[in-house]
Amino acid sequence: MKTLNVGLLGCGFMGRTHANAYRRLPNFFDSEYQPVLKAIGDVNAEKAKAFAQRWGFESIETDWRKLVEREDIDLVDICLPNNVHAEVAIAAAKAGKMIICEKPLAMNGQQGALMVKAVEKAGVPNFISYNYRRFPAVTLAKKLIDEGKLGRVFHYRAKFLQDWTISKDLPQGGDALWRLDVKVAGSGVTGDLLAHCIDTAIWLNGPITEVCAMTETFIKERKHQLTGKVEKVGIDDACAFLARFANGSLATFESTRYARGHKALYTFEINGEHASIFWDLHDSHRLQYFEHRDPGYIRGWRSIHVTDGDHPYMNKWWVPGLTIGYEHSFVHQLADFLEGVATGKPASPTFRDALQTQYVCDAVLASGQSRKWEKVKAVK
Ligand SMILES: NC(=O)c1ccc[n+]([C@@H]2O[C@H](COP(=O)([O-])OP(=O)(O)OC[C@H]3O[C@@H](n4cnc5c(N)ncnc54)[C@H](O)[C@@H]3O)[C@@H](O)[C@H]2O)c1
Repeated sequence: MKTLNVGLLGCGFMGRTHANAYRRLPNFFDSEYQPVLKAIGDVNAEKAKAFAQRWGFESIETDWRKLVEREDIDLVDICLPNNVHAEVAIAAAKAGKMIICEKPLAMNGQQGALMVKAVEKAGVPNFISYNYRRFPAVTLAKKLIDEGKLGRVFHYRAKFLQDWTISKDLPQGGDALWRLDVKVAGSGVTGDLLAHCIDTAIWLNGPITEVCAMTETFIKERKHQLTGKVEKVGIDDACAFLARFANGSLATFESTRYARGHKALYTFEINGEHASIFWDLHDSHRLQYFEHRDPGYIRGWRSIHVTDGDHPYMNKWWVPGLTIGYEHSFVHQLADFLEGVATGKPASPTFRDALQTQYVCDAVLASGQSRKWEKVKAVK
């Protein structure tokens, strides 16, 4: 087994999910790599110290540059706000590190393209954390589609709904609330939530070629936590868009943080010639599947409880019928990433794969402004 010295940047929400994945991996997966939690980096020294103690990191850094340059680090894991992904990833690539980076790849496609260039020039393994692909039921959906069970696909329908920014008194900026500050987030629900839906959609149903979007910012000004001033809100609070896929199918995507009652309702449905598939994050172990070719008297939606030993990833965990959760998708992606490093067959999404999602986000935001259909740039 090879030692893998990890330098994790960011000890917020995602820092916790990734730290947990490094800890759990060797307990459940036969990886060639044994992660060693070498360093945790965060601008907030107190937070970093407490995080190091809780998760067992050997050291802390408060300047990401120092962590990236350290010779005893093999893998840089970027769990920082979106505005620093590019700078950190490019520096890590130049330093010859393997890179795992949280989604979205970058603030925009232009920045993302520079990141792709940097990792490919350096020849370092790279991966973007679109973790929803690795919920067992979503991975099973991919298997059914790849087996041709749906036949020709006509429709793709995705939603990601939340309700946490409805109050006009919620400030923008700072921990977690950087999501409302366009200078740090790049965009609102498009880059934060729809990027997940777009990544899953491209993975399941192929490239998206054009989009027509409407976006809205419901609360126009908010106090900024860091400056203390009331500042203009530059993010999209809500976004809905129509899309066409290269395979001829039509799609609708919707996301908002103003859907009262919904905390993280990510759903998608795909309708094909022979079958349909539906998945709901709130019932994440179930894949709803309708097979038209079943005999008429038993035809109907079936609810597959994706917990059996022959379901994706499930033989690594407990016994059939028992469930796993959100955090396990991060263990799965880490296992796949490291297997890709070991075998030389990189796990997807690489930076290059995630750039295509970024180009869709760019086209969606452009269409929200132009109020016209926009073509999606293809990654060359
Ligand atoms: N895959 C997912 O489902 C998912 C979910 C949430 C967030 N994310 C992504 O993960 C990233 C981080 O989000 P989060 O929710 O963990 O944010 P967070 O606010 O919870 O944590 C960010 C941490 O980074 C630190 N930080 C900020 N700027 C820094 C800098 N320049 N140098 C060092 N430390 C710095 C902060 O002090 C904080 O501890 C974002 O890109 C976000 O889009 C992905």
